Amino acid sequence: FVVVLASAFLFLVQSLLSTTCALHRDHFPPSFLFGTSTSAYQIEGAYQEGNKSLSNWDVFTHSQGMSFCIIHTCLFWFFHCAGGKIKDGSNGDVAADHYHIYMEDIGLMHSLGINSYRFSISWSRILPRGRYGKINPAGIAFYNNLIDSLLLRGIEPFVTLTHYDIPQELEDRYGAWLSPKIQKDFGYFAEVCFSKFGDRVKFWSTFNEPQMMVKNGYGTGEYPPMHRNKEFIAGHNAILSHATAVEIYRKRYQVKQQGMIGIVIFMCWFEPLRNNSLDFLAAQQVMSFQAAWFLDPIIHGDYPPEMRQALGSKLPTFSIKERRKLQYKLDFIGINHYTSLYVRDCTFSPCKSSRNIDESFIYTERNGIPIGKPTAMPNYYVVPYGIEEVVLYTMRRYNNTPMFITENGYAQSSNSSMTELLNDNDRVDSMRQYLTYLNNAMRKGADVRGYFVWSLIDNFEWLYGYTMRFGLHYVDYNTQKRAPKLSARWYEQFLHGVEVQH
Ligand code: NOJ
Repeated sequence: FVVVLASAFLFLVQSLLSTTCALHRDHFPPSFLFGTSTSAYQIEGAYQEGNKSLSNWDVFTHSQGMSFCIIHTCLFWFFHCAGGKIKDGSNGDVAADHYHIYMEDIGLMHSLGINSYRFSISWSRILPRGRYGKINPAGIAFYNNLIDSLLLRGIEPFVTLTHYDIPQELEDRYGAWLSPKIQKDFGYFAEVCFSKFGDRVKFWSTFNEPQMMVKNGYGTGEYPPMHRNKEFIAGHNAILSHATAVEIYRKRYQVKQQGMIGIVIFMCWFEPLRNNSLDFLAAQQVMSFQAAWFLDPIIHGDYPPEMRQALGSKLPTFSIKERRKLQYKLDFIGINHYTSLYVRDCTFSPCKSSRNIDESFIYTERNGIPIGKPTAMPNYYVVPYGIEEVVLYTMRRYNNTPMFITENGYAQSSNSSMTELLNDNDRVDSMRQYLTYLNNAMRKGADVRGYFVWSLIDNFEWLYGYTMRFGLHYVDYNTQKRAPKLSARWYEQFLHGVEVQH
């Protein structure tokens, strides 16, 4: 009798646990977008096909051997000429060859059961010479085919206008983001896209992670065009370019096309290192330098006061006319979330290590314990509650503007064995936990409308080349064959309504 009673009790506990802990598609609204993300330079390849011009990333990756040979003597010629800025000396010339086999990739999306796909348009394919030349019919045709084929499969296109790559000509002519002239060019490019694709595209983002684009390209010099200490000027022009594109969309297209336009921001969660008010304030300040740098001007019309106070005249100013142009220039906020980090105050308490721009210092561990489970990507840890925190932060700061998680992903090293790469249990755990915490934020009232996994397939990971693999599908770069990883099967089951435990 005791045994029967005990097992009945256990069964009750187990079923209770499974109903409270299980994650189910139905925990999200039916209209919720579930998708995967990619970007043009990282997957398309075909870098010189269909009348496409060279982009800044084509030129940057191709010049890497040269710059190393010049810096180092010819003693290292063979070794260094094979690679420089990109870890494995690679480039996006072929990448995952999506330009040629996009139909196969749409087939993968269909098997997953996603209802949306986030991708970016290569500016150099549409306008090889910016507004100094003609619209390229081959470029328009490629994206028309992609969009039409997606829609035929019931997959909503979610389009980014600029995901780091721009026509090199804009860089050569006037220094791209360093010049206010880029506003007109970007507006023109955006308008071409709205007019050619807007009858079918209902979700537009102007920029992907503009903070990364300007910080790495114009601050630290790690990305093209390798400038230093000019990130606030480049950022300023990017913010105004965003407003220009949104103004055009709202005035001439939005009513007819019934779409939404927003921007995608890189957002880590920052946790105070020590339990004191200084570190708490420092963490808040780092959040502003990261997200509010772009979001405050686009929503409130000016830079966050914390940034103005710390940077003074290093931060450009907006004229009254520009401020008016900026206000509430978005319909949604796209959040790319990968990790959380600790922050220690360095303004009022001394720090041994070097300082960050905002006078705070970033740590990945506390008392020797890492903030979360490490991934192959340095400084990216799986910290599932971080997604709930960034969403609630954005909800509070920006009056619950609609949000999409436009990227969340897990990096594997290409050095792992094939078995490890395909049996990506850690990625499955990461997705399941992040989705659970995202759901918590939504239960607390956050208006989140979609979640996109980075990435559909393995691809070119910028400075890391092909050494990192973020895909739900493995790509063999010799044959361009794709193979689903365990995570692809997991996402598929989840999207088909199978209850998944955590
Ligand atoms: C965000 C960027 O948008 C994407 O291009 C990159 O590959 C992922 N992060 C992973 O680092």
